[in-house]
Amino acid sequence: MAIINANFLKLKAGYLFPEIARRVRAYGDANPALAERIIRCGIGDVTEPLPAAAVEAMHAGVAEMACRETFKGYGPEQGYEFLRQAIVDNPFAGLGISADEVFISDGSKCDTGNILDIFGKGNLIAITDPVYPVYVDTNVMAGNTGEADAKGAYGGLVYLPCNAANGFVADVPNEHVDIIYLCFPNNPTGAVATRGQLEAWVAYARANDAIILFDAAYEAYIQDPAIPRSIFEIEGARECAIEFRSFSKNGGFTGVRCAYVVIPKTVSGSDGMGGRVSLHQLWSRRHSTKFNGASYPVQKAAAAVFSAEGKAQVAALINHYMGNAKLLREACAAVGLPVFGGVNAPYVWVGCPAGLSSWDMFDKMLSEAQVVITPGSGFGFGGEGYFRISAFNSRANVEEVCRRVQALVG
Ligand code: MLT
Repeated sequence: MAIINANFLKLKAGYLFPEIARRVRAYGDANPALAERIIRCGIGDVTEPLPAAAVEAMHAGVAEMACRETFKGYGPEQGYEFLRQAIVDNPFAGLGISADEVFISDGSKCDTGNILDIFGKGNLIAITDPVYPVYVDTNVMAGNTGEADAKGAYGGLVYLPCNAANGFVADVPNEHVDIIYLCFPNNPTGAVATRGQLEAWVAYARANDAIILFDAAYEAYIQDPAIPRSIFEIEGARECAIEFRSFSKNGGFTGVRCAYVVIPKTVSGSDGMGGRVSLHQLWSRRHSTKFNGASYPVQKAAAAVFSAEGKAQVAALINHYMGNAKLLREACAAVGLPVFGGVNAPYVWVGCPAGLSSWDMFDKMLSEAQVVITPGSGFGFGGEGYFRISAFNSRANVEEVCRRVQALVG
């Protein structure tokens, strides 16, 4: 008899976004006359076409694969040198990262989940609350938690509250933890951490011999030049941090799939017997064993995002989505709802109207306005009383969402 991983049985519900899609489908089936009116601002999925530079490079990559002389089979598991070097020369220029500290993958969701392979059991793990649900669910699956309690908090995790009082940026804990997940710009709240706040986190990690797992998937949306884009802008982070980056939200690669992890060779963990082991070495071993590399045309397209044309095209995409975020912020504020985020991030985090829970607001928006949002409580109990609106949409749809919000709540 095959024994299952019983940790999966601790998971409280289906993964958030399929669950939302299921509810939206059920609503559409039950209300066919209204189904066409539905506007999706739930999952943060891009809507605009790929940058032309990426499309052109991907075509060129496919053409190479179509020709015996330039055909390529398996690539290097860690990624092609041309892409790793382009990353080091562009977003990581001047940060002391070398190309062999970059590992190309097919997505940050996978990377942030898979990273747990290289950590042992018994680590005390801190997550912010509310939080991108992947961090919690993958720890549950890995057996790093106990059962969930009535409010949905898993035993063994250290929850760091993020709320209006702390600007949705968690304070460093008073207790010791071994691993900390940080995501800035934040999904779901859209908050960003200042240099001082990140310095405090790096100082904490170093003092506690802890590792920061820094998810910077939304870095391209930072508008304020004073806000760090990478944890490696902070002195000492090379000793204690791993950074996750993606092409999904800058180059619009959600359907193409390409991302990367930056692990400096100087970051290490304990072997439990007094020795230190490089996490870079372990991830490299894990990547070569379980992954065969992102596809060649996709890596060509990703590298083109860093060309002069690619950068200008990505900037135009970001401007478009940030223009949407501004409209959504203003529409929610105009009807008196408390509004956060949406300034350096594509997510607008909104307080529900008085008396409505997050799921009540989800139902109200869907049934009365045919707008899909994400209930804040789907990101953990700290998100109760809020909802998230994604700015990833066409301008026409966002303008219509603004009108409907004003008609519904105003
Ligand atoms: C979100 O909506 O939170 C994101 O699209 C999820 C993801 O990037 O996996």
